[in-house]
Amino acid sequence: MATDKPWGGRFSQPTNQMVEQFTQSVDVDRRLYKHDIRGSVAHARMLAKVGILSTKESEAIVSGLREIEREIEDGRFTWSVSLEDVHMNIEHALTQKIGEVGKKLHTGRSRNDQIATDMRLLLRDAVDELTALLYRLQTTLLDMAEREAETLMPGLTHLQLAQPVTLGHHLMAWFEMLDRDRKRMTECRQRVNVLPLGSAALAGTSFPIDRSFTAKELGFDAICANSLDAVSDRDFVIEFCSHSALLAAHLSRIAEELVLWASDQYRYIEIGDAFCTGSSIMPQKKNPDVAELIRGKCGTVIGNLVAVLVLIKSQPLAYNRDNQEDKSPLFTTVDTVTECVRVLNAMLPTIEVKRTVMRRALEAGFSTATDLAEYLVGKGVAFRDAHAVVGKTVRYCIDTGVGLNQLSLDQLQKFSLVIDDDVFSAISLEGSIRARAHPGGTAPEQVKAAVAEARNRLVSTPGERGRP
Ligand code: ARG
Repeated sequence: MATDKPWGGRFSQPTNQMVEQFTQSVDVDRRLYKHDIRGSVAHARMLAKVGILSTKESEAIVSGLREIEREIEDGRFTWSVSLEDVHMNIEHALTQKIGEVGKKLHTGRSRNDQIATDMRLLLRDAVDELTALLYRLQTTLLDMAEREAETLMPGLTHLQLAQPVTLGHHLMAWFEMLDRDRKRMTECRQRVNVLPLGSAALAGTSFPIDRSFTAKELGFDAICANSLDAVSDRDFVIEFCSHSALLAAHLSRIAEELVLWASDQYRYIEIGDAFCTGSSIMPQKKNPDVAELIRGKCGTVIGNLVAVLVLIKSQPLAYNRDNQEDKSPLFTTVDTVTECVRVLNAMLPTIEVKRTVMRRALEAGFSTATDLAEYLVGKGVAFRDAHAVVGKTVRYCIDTGVGLNQLSLDQLQKFSLVIDDDVFSAISLEGSIRARAHPGGTAPEQVKAAVAEARNRLVSTPGERGRP
């Protein structure tokens, strides 16, 4: 053999060194070692169960693999680029360790169904960790929303003062965004948790394998129904990257609002010192860099989605080496979203809410103009007419430099005679909030009800790891 590769039999020349470096994936896929070994252990046990290996052979393989796992964990394992990937590195080490019987492990298996299995195992773990972290972040938001159920703040559209809302209501909007993200992840898990092993290279295997046994050993809910599909598609990676992109987009929106609220222009919140950084030149600075980074990392996550989508596009069945390029985008996506959720959850409790500042910002505009229009409707005026009346009233306030709430009854009646002294509670900030007392509205009692309902919802869908 001109080459020491496990696949070297039909080759008469050694691999070009550049090609060796170009095709290797061990630098990246060694991260799969635990999952690769787990898959191999299950495969070896299955081979013994159906009588392809003796119990003794299977046990030797399993204990050899366990020893290799410990070596890798302790940093005693030597990874070799010439052995290309995580699979051949481990298989080679196994044969070195236990001798000839190690060469039987690859019976009825290919690296094509092996890598698909490894990726699914890794992703299943990642999804479980991420959903548990999201659960925790959502719990933090519920606690904050409960505390801030009565806190008045400006509700904005177009970043302009629109109507009063409560901070609790705003925080519950974040909660709902993340709740859908968490559910998407849980649903994605069902499609991840399916076993490719047994598909071999593409056509299945002539050995009398027992795929249900392997699936059970590995905790898979089902078996991939088609061998060509099982080894070639990476839609489960794409799906995760897609849900992650949406999650990262949500996190970036939350982060952006924190940046705005912490700015000198808003001063709605102060983020704890431990979660801010300073400037090397401007001594007065305290910057919300953590939130900015969460906002910025969204770019990487969206980019990775595009990378894996383009990777699969136009690939003919079945396996193609292109698929090797899915590792780095997937791993980076897993790491990035996991880290962002974890750090955001740690940062939120350090935030001090400046309730008076928020309230003052709300008093400065015409946030209850809609309430005045709705008041007029209550007195029998058609909404369009009421809108025009209030428009004129606001114009008057702007011209004379007073707030809507500062107008006397006399002044108000100049715009409409149906106005009575019950108008003042209707157009007060508290009155405005209190009036929106339907489910999904911003009234404090509705926010408290929403928190209670959401808490039950959360507890009843805890995800695979249970309640963290
Ligand atoms: N390293 C490959 C991957 O990540 C798996 C090996 C399949 N290689 C092959 N030549 N069929 O997809």
